[in-house]
Parts: sequence; C-alpha cells; structure tokens
Amino acid sequence: MTDDVRARPAAFPPRLVAAGAADAPFRTVLAVDDLPPGEMRRVSFGDLDVLLAHTTRGIYAVDDRCPHMSAPLSIGALDGCIVACPLHNGRFDLESGDPTQMPTTGGLDPDGVYHPTWSPPGSPEKPDAPGKKAEARRLTRVRRFRYYAVRVVDGQIEVALPD
Ligand code: FES
Repeated sequence: MTDDVRARPAAFPPRLVAAGAADAPFRTVLAVDDLPPGEMRRVSFGDLDVLLAHTTRGIYAVDDRCPHMSAPLSIGALDGCIVACPLHNGRFDLESGDPTQMPTTGGLDPDGVYHPTWSPPGSPEKPDAPGKKAEARRLTRVRRFRYYAVRVVDGQIEVALPD
C-alpha cells in the first residue's frame, strides 16, 4: 500500500465528522484520475450520496446535500475551496464547513443568526412574503458540512463510510 503523491486528502475540523463516520472502514470510491483538481463528483452507496471535491487544499468528502435545503452540490460549482449551490446561490467553505454566502432565501446561519432574503445583482428585489412558506424559509438553518475522512492509496480515493 503506497500513498499517492498526485492527490492528497484535505484536513477538516474534527468536530464536524459525519455521524457514524469516526471509526468507519475505508472503502474505495473512485480513481484519482477520475477526479482532477477543481472537479467534483457524486458517489453513492445505498441511499448515501457523497460529494467528492478536489479543492486547492486537497480532496474532501461530505454529503452531496446542500446544508441549506439538500440540493445536490455535485452539480454546482467549485472555486478553490468554495462550493456554490445551484439552487439558491448559497456558497460554502469546504475548509471550515461554514457558509460564506447565505442562500437568496435568507434564514438562520449555523449559529442561529437570522439573515434576510436577497437578490443577485441585476435581478428584481425578492420580497419576504407573508405566510407559511416564508416562515419556513426564515426558520431554515443552514448547517455546517459534516465530513468523511479521505485517504489516497495506490491511485484510488478511499472514504471512511459508515455501514
Ligand atoms: S439548497 Fe443550496 S442554497 Fe438552498
């Protein structure tokens, strides 16, 4: 077993390990050649969809569900360590796990601080309409990423995944 020098796993905040993943066995998920720098892929195991992202700090594995309303981040965009969600323009830092731009719908950040709705430049203003849908948006908390440990062995990316 040899480490692959072309790609490396990225360190993540230990307190943000995914549930059940701290002592999970490593499983081979993808060849390093299939995840060039700057790219993302979804890999699925049963009903668990995992996002692999080859960032400027290395390879991360998190749930392929936006920490806002669960949209697949694998079809979003990766810029350095920042993932942009395709649904509400939320942006999330894979290094820290934190949002760097709240979704257009606003809501609660990971610490419970409320942020209002907003519109991208050039788009009409988005009113925060009354009613249950708006209330649900206001009460939706954007969470921090939860991580799965990654290692690279013999040209293969391995991820610690719970059974
Ligand atoms: S689902 Fe990703 S920003 Fe809303």
